[in-house]
Amino acid sequence: MIAIGPKHMAHALSTVLLLAACGPGGSSDAAAATSVAPAAAPDARSGPAQACGAKGLPDCPTQRWMKATLQTYLRTRDFTRLDAALHKLATAAPAGYPGWKESAEKAQSAARAHDVAGLKAQCGGCHDQHRKRFKKELRHTPLAL
Ligand code: HEC
Repeated sequence: MIAIGPKHMAHALSTVLLLAACGPGGSSDAAAATSVAPAAAPDARSGPAQACGAKGLPDCPTQRWMKATLQTYLRTRDFTRLDAALHKLATAAPAGYPGWKESAEKAQSAARAHDVAGLKAQCGGCHDQHRKRFKKELRHTPLAL
């Protein structure tokens, strides 16, 4: 044990480093990767955790609906579909969000009048008033849309 020269020492060291890199390090990465995937499934059912809306995850229900309907119809100036979708949004107002229904109704009137600026004002108005809180409290719960 005394006569290990610097050359041997270096060799022994690099062997240890190699083992560390390929062995436990690699397998614990794999373990971490596999333990993430199953954890996402129960979250999707039970709600509260980050099972949607975050980077790499699917959109949350209301977020997806907004993109597929209001955003699309506004882009294509499809006032008939905007009218119907905003009516739904008004009737699906979650409890405890004062002004939600009114905002959707005002947007609906603007859609009927083909008033794009008026529409956008209501999109922004509701987003400013409710979106932050909604995302924190309710975004995992689908509305009746
Ligand atoms: C009465 C309330 C209300 C009105 C009116 C409303 N929104 Fe929304 N919108 C929301 C809420 C709440 C969210 C957040 C949903 C989430 O992220 O889970 C949202 C999210 C969105 C998103 C998703 C953004 C993203 O990628 O995270 C888009 C796009 C959107 N709205 C477009 C519109 C457009 C366009 C209009 C108007 C024509 C509109 N919204 C009117 C409440 C409203």
